[in-house]
Amino acid sequence: MTKNLTQSEQKALVGKYAVDQLIEQKRIFSGMKIGLGTGSTAMPAVERLAERIKDGTLKDICAVATSFQTTIACENLGIPVFSMNAKEIGGHLDLAIDGADEINPKKQLIKGGGAALLLEKIVAYNADSFVIVADQSKDVASIGTVFALPVEIIAEARVPVIKALEQLGATCTLRQGVKKAGPVITDNGNLILDLLWKSAPDAAQMEAEINKIVGVVENGFFCKNIPTVFVAHADGTVTER
Ligand code: A5P
Repeated sequence: MTKNLTQSEQKALVGKYAVDQLIEQKRIFSGMKIGLGTGSTAMPAVERLAERIKDGTLKDICAVATSFQTTIACENLGIPVFSMNAKEIGGHLDLAIDGADEINPKKQLIKGGGAALLLEKIVAYNADSFVIVADQSKDVASIGTVFALPVEIIAEARVPVIKALEQLGATCTLRQGVKKAGPVITDNGNLILDLLWKSAPDAAQMEAEINKIVGVVENGFFCKNIPTVFVAHADGTVTER
């Protein structure tokens, strides 16, 4: 019978599948330092990693979490979690695994839908290999015109930063909190602007340009560490590219 998985079933499938596959292929093994992403697709991967630690397949794993969400998950699941700066990690990871908001054919990404882009990028750009897990809706032809690009900014610089971003052709919206009056405050105490362009920008060039603006902390284009991407489909298959 043909399956018709929902988006959340695809997320659960791909997180588990990717971890098992990476263990099978010996791309995840005991003793590794692993960066763990944020969001509803990264979480099943974190949970599967915890299961494989618990069943004895993986030993001496040291994790770095990319958000409060992931830190709490690691604490609850018994995954040893460290700062990037801890001597166990030494500022460098063997692998990072995370979700994405959009992935284009070049495997350039938009991330930060959950406002965790800063630590996600620190982890991804300091890892030898980078793995993305996603449901099929994330696989798109171009990025920057449909899912808004998150940009983390210093609150005091909001107005000049918006003006500078508009010069780059973007429309900016200050992200608002849910069950919190006023704007979203990130795990690092900053604000998030969500940016859209009328036509798709050159993501790699824009990633660099945005970060030149004083008051920008980081943006959600991820174009430097090109990941291995696992995508789950509604028919129950998972593809790797
Ligand atoms: C968190 O800030 C993001 O970068 C997530 O990785 C991204 O938003 C994907 O989230 P979901 O897996 O929940 O769709």
